[in-house]
Amino acid sequence: MKKSVRVLLTILSVLLICGLLCGLAAYFLLLHRYKGREVVNEWNEDDEFRIDEIRTVEKKPGKDFVILNLADVQMCDLEDLFHMKMIEEEITALIEETKPDLITLTGDQTWSNENLIVLTSLVRFLDSFGIPYAPVFGNHDYGNGDETAVLDRNACCDIYERGSYSLFSRGPSDLDSLGNYLLNITENGKILRTIYMLDAGYGDEITDRQIAWMRWNAEGICAANGGRFPESITFFHKPIPEFTGAYFAFCRGDADALGDVEVHYSLSGTLQNGFFEAAKEINVTDIVCGHQHGNSFTILYRDVRLTSALKTGELGGYYEDEDVYLNGATVIRIGEQTQISTVTVDRERFHIEP
Ligand SMILES: [Fe+2]
Repeated sequence: MKKSVRVLLTILSVLLICGLLCGLAAYFLLLHRYKGREVVNEWNEDDEFRIDEIRTVEKKPGKDFVILNLADVQMCDLEDLFHMKMIEEEITALIEETKPDLITLTGDQTWSNENLIVLTSLVRFLDSFGIPYAPVFGNHDYGNGDETAVLDRNACCDIYERGSYSLFSRGPSDLDSLGNYLLNITENGKILRTIYMLDAGYGDEITDRQIAWMRWNAEGICAANGGRFPESITFFHKPIPEFTGAYFAFCRGDADALGDVEVHYSLSGTLQNGFFEAAKEINVTDIVCGHQHGNSFTILYRDVRLTSALKTGELGGYYEDEDVYLNGATVIRIGEQTQISTVTVDRERFHIEP
């Protein structure tokens, strides 16, 4: 065989092998669907409540307890793989500045269907700080509302539950969604705050069954807490309709917004299912939601503070025509009282484009 033919065959073989390897990699990263564990854990109103099943995070004496909320980090294997470093640098800067005791993530940590690499990397990255973190799902975390992502919702739960510092729990399997769980912030054994982490992402709204489950937990905690509902905070992704009410109250001049504020049109849900009233009855004083990106505000509305959490990481989506400039995170500081503020980042430093 002529030398030139051998060279040609070698080149073709190498190209074929490279093509096969790339094809296999693309298949397992972008096309193959990973199904997580199906865990059956049904909840019934008649179940016995056990307070020791709720995870606790202890407040350090003499210091405020600081929660850093990261909202809508929104990473995608295809589009953001090469931006991950930048987003991680931004989160690192936010953590270094605020020194949180707990990191919450209000959904849309990933977006689009390609979520395998970014989610596993995010959990590894968050674990590297040695700080407990608590995520909920948004409407993009396992697909764009159609559950067609590389990782299905059980697979996402598996990854979050494996995180060394993750407090995530998939919760009951029959609440219309996954990732509903509670935390108690305690000091010397006393409950300072109960935190309700709810999934209002994929289904877009909190359902009646979730409300019933939240109330059942609250009554159990109340009984274990000397007959008092501890002051409570809820975190979930898509805002309830009262956020729209707060938004219009602010626009009319009937309500003040606190801190760094950007108020644009509201992307809140529309389902009036009594969640807001139920939350008030169990002493929820703060509701913190994501989903609205640059729409960042804290407004006291009908005796509850509603916080539309500031977006973390590159801005995406629906504000192209507006002058959105804030980016960073929300800080919830728990001392004698609860204080909410935003921490913003220099957009040029982190190459944040609208
Ligand atoms: Fe969202």
